[in-house]
Amino acid sequence: MKHEVFEKNSILLLIGVLIVVSIGGIVEIAPLFYLENTVEKVEGVRPYTPLELKGRNIYVREGCYTCHSQMIRSLRDEVERYGHYSLAAESMYDHPFQWGSKRTGPDLARVGGKYSDEWHREHMIDPRSVVPESIMPGYPFLAQTELDYKDVARDLMANRAVGVPYTDDQIANAAADLEAQLDPFSDNYDAFLERYPGANVRDFDGNPDMISELDALIAYLQMLGSLVDFDVYKAEDFYR
Ligand code: HEC
Repeated sequence: MKHEVFEKNSILLLIGVLIVVSIGGIVEIAPLFYLENTVEKVEGVRPYTPLELKGRNIYVREGCYTCHSQMIRSLRDEVERYGHYSLAAESMYDHPFQWGSKRTGPDLARVGGKYSDEWHREHMIDPRSVVPESIMPGYPFLAQTELDYKDVARDLMANRAVGVPYTDDQIANAAADLEAQLDPFSDNYDAFLERYPGANVRDFDGNPDMISELDALIAYLQMLGSLVDFDVYKAEDFYR
């Protein structure tokens, strides 16, 4: 019996196992790096606006992901609580992704549109003022801190470097677009919406005199999970 050598020599067996497992791994994983359609494109999914991207940076900076996940699993209890399960395409422009592994608080993948801006404002400043039993910390300084966005074009460029399809036009207008999203009466309104179809345009923190970090964070929270229209989208289409 030829395989007797493997059975009598544990090192040889180990090397043999490694070779067999690597072949299996390569066959399964390597094609995913080359297939164009590993992540199915889904209508409605677009890169973040400059303001949303800034809000996302604040979300990461403040460590919101240590208590909140952003991925609804395809399990009945999750779908009934949070809505349609998350699609791969919905986080295709997330660098880094925010799926998360801990839920001290609820999943936020579809929190967009669930509450009013004012609710978010109160909640971020003092969570217990709207949810008395909440254990979430308050972030009152966000409303008082001016958003530093002079480098926002670079944020877009960094994302483009890792594959997010921002156009030259979007990068050149990054700062102007950030301001336009906060002001429905700006001259840039139409151009902004052409670059970011369907984006929310309004003053998010209730203080039009200042562009605050809270403006950016609420703009981000209010779009989460709202890009795909699930009345139209049918996941099964892909599996027929
Ligand atoms: C220590 C854990 C913790 C951290 C850190 C935390 N949260 Fe929460 N969050 C919670 C808990 C618990 C709840 C549920 C109670 C409530 O609504 O306040 C919650 C609720 C929320 C909700 C309402 C969700 C819903 O569907 O009702 C939002 C939005 C939210 N958090 C955003 C944030 C953001 C943004 C940050 C970072 C700036 C953050 N949280 C940081 C624990 C946390």
